[in-house]
Amino acid sequence: MSLPSQVKIVEVGPRDGLQNEKQIVPTAIKIELIDRLAAAGLRSIEATSFVSPKWVPQMADNSAVLQGIKRRPGTDYPVLTPNLQGFDTAVQAGAEEVAIFAAASESFSRQNINCSIAESLKRFEPVVSAASALEIPVRGYVSCVVGCPYEGAIDPQQAAAVARTLFEMGCYEVSLGDTIGVGTPASISRLIEACARDIPIGRLAGHYHDTYGMAIANIYASLQLGLATFDASVAGLGGCPYAKGASGNVASEDVVYLLHGLGIETGIDLATLAAIGDWISSAINRPNGAKAGRALCAKATE
Ligand code: HMG
Ligand code: MG
Repeated sequence: MSLPSQVKIVEVGPRDGLQNEKQIVPTAIKIELIDRLAAAGLRSIEATSFVSPKWVPQMADNSAVLQGIKRRPGTDYPVLTPNLQGFDTAVQAGAEEVAIFAAASESFSRQNINCSIAESLKRFEPVVSAASALEIPVRGYVSCVVGCPYEGAIDPQQAAAVARTLFEMGCYEVSLGDTIGVGTPASISRLIEACARDIPIGRLAGHYHDTYGMAIANIYASLQLGLATFDASVAGLGGCPYAKGASGNVASEDVVYLLHGLGIETGIDLATLAAIGDWISSAINRPNGAKAGRALCAKATE
């Protein structure tokens, strides 16, 4: 199959990237990050999550972040909503797109959202109905699609069944989360093939963490199967608070470098994105996790 000519990047740095930071990042920095990413051409930026502040203190300023950004026309700012309580607060704060998140592994579901997979799917139904009544699009996530920090390897059929339930419930897209970055092109391809039996390929997205350095290879394998939406995090920020040792998402800069090198359009200005990665890394005192980002910044200062 030929590669897609255009790819959409869903920038998850402000949420997935920052949620794991122990030091609370000032709200003004989060807002500046989102606004700069939008100016660099990102058209979907996951801004924050409306989860319990007891579970994830870093996201406690969710409403202030959503209300503080300058919305660019044509840019979406989805937010995570684990239940109706989070959904209602998100809508009050002006959310126009939300995401619900389930897992393919029972143990991870318990650790992450304190309930079984079946209970979580039941809990998402009223969220999807409420969103549908307000014409708010809902994105779905499945975590631990190939491996779980507690249960090891996950059967692709198990992940595909959860993805299908989310899709049938009304999610316009299902993002496949390799939460702990253990996937390889072989296991990711098996997973996509299993999901694509029930869900059109254009409604699937890849969300690959880069713990084992496989994310770029996994994206290339996914492109060959027709996937054209990928989640990524500027400077490779992040990790999951409920998956010890998991590193950040694949760096957006590295993904854009790959895509532009393949002649695939993203609408993103790579030099601007690289500068944002450098800035946010120093703002939160982290090494810049984007290889392409570091190389481009080094070249720019030559
Ligand atoms: P729970 O404790 O079972 O909830 O948590 P509960 O309904 O029993 O309520 C307990 C308390 O939490 C109550 O407060 C509620 O008001 C409050 P109290 O009466 O004790 O003062 N509460 C809330 N507060 C604010 N916003 C809410 C909310 N809901 C309840 N929405 C819950 C269940 C789902 C809320 C909790 O487990 C939680 O917030 N989990 C979120 C964990 C999280 O954010 N994980 C990271 C995101 S997922 C991820 O990173 C993976 C992904 O990137 C894909 C991948 O990589 O695989 C998406
Ligand atoms: Mg993630």
